[in-house]
Amino acid sequence: MTERIRIDVGEESFLVTAECPHRKALLKYASLTRDAKGRCVITCPLHFSRFDLATGEVLNGPATQPLDVTP
Ligand code: FES
Repeated sequence: MTERIRIDVGEESFLVTAECPHRKALLKYASLTRDAKGRCVITCPLHFSRFDLATGEVLNGPATQPLDVTP
């Protein structure tokens, strides 16, 4: 079973895989921001791939695989 971490953003909680899908950096060290579209964005601490926290979509590489997210 893949380890997950819980990320709370305001009233919402997300369960995401503990490791980045690119090179397995620990996402407990990731940063959270909001982009111009109001999306909550999680940025990997190692190579700075950015993912939409709500959908897991890759917004910027080098990651090519989405983040596994459970709202
Ligand atoms: S390990 Fe996350 S972008 Fe490379």
